[in-house]
Amino acid sequence: MNKSDLRKLIRNKRRRLPLAERRRAARQLLCQLHQSSRFLAARRVALYLANDGEIDPQFVIDDLQQRGKQVLLPVLHPLKSGQLSFVRLHKNTVMRRNRYGISEPDFRHGQRVNPRFISVICLPLVAFDEQGNRLGMGGGYYDRSLAFSHQSGQKPDLIGCAYEFQQVPQLPAEAWDIPLHAIATNGRFRQF
Ligand SMILES: Nc1ncnc2c1ncn2[C@@H]1O[C@H](COP(=O)(O)OP(=O)(O)O)[C@@H](O)[C@H]1O
Ligand SMILES: [Mg+2]
Repeated sequence: MNKSDLRKLIRNKRRRLPLAERRRAARQLLCQLHQSSRFLAARRVALYLANDGEIDPQFVIDDLQQRGKQVLLPVLHPLKSGQLSFVRLHKNTVMRRNRYGISEPDFRHGQRVNPRFISVICLPLVAFDEQGNRLGMGGGYYDRSLAFSHQSGQKPDLIGCAYEFQQVPQLPAEAWDIPLHAIATNGRFRQF
């Protein structure tokens, strides 16, 4: 199956999931992330707001904020096309909808943090494989914005978040695809 057909198939399945299952999986995601000492120790964590049926990290965001951690969200860069910026999320952060209809902090008022200084980035995905390859929605936003992490050894830790059913046997890894360090699902925490 090609990448575009695979995206359609999994995105459909993801969107059809009943609400009760969504909520259960969202709680399980937090439990699985708690298995990672790197996640527990992280001071600054970037996440996302669930869109298109993605596994919901809201309980993870609440948990981090309760533990006094810095939480960031991705924002489409208004000038650098195809790039994401990471902006701090506070109780009173001004939010707006971007061109995909996804809620994001207002770029102009937000406090931006260079991804090099973020400990853990939890990123959504459409499919993953046993090697930690990631298939996104097709925009290449995370690949472009985190391209530096191919070279720099340490930060940030990249954790893909997904439902267990989003695993596929093998994905074609393109030269520009950023490899994930771990995958957290409703059922497991895989470290690569
Ligand atoms: N580092 C990069 N620099 C320039 N273009 C990139 C980079 N990473 C990805 N792209 C472009 O983004 C497009 C989508 O990438 P792809 O990996 O298929 O999407 P996704 O990661 O969302 O599944 C590709 O056509 C690719 O050319
Ligand atoms: Mg990619």
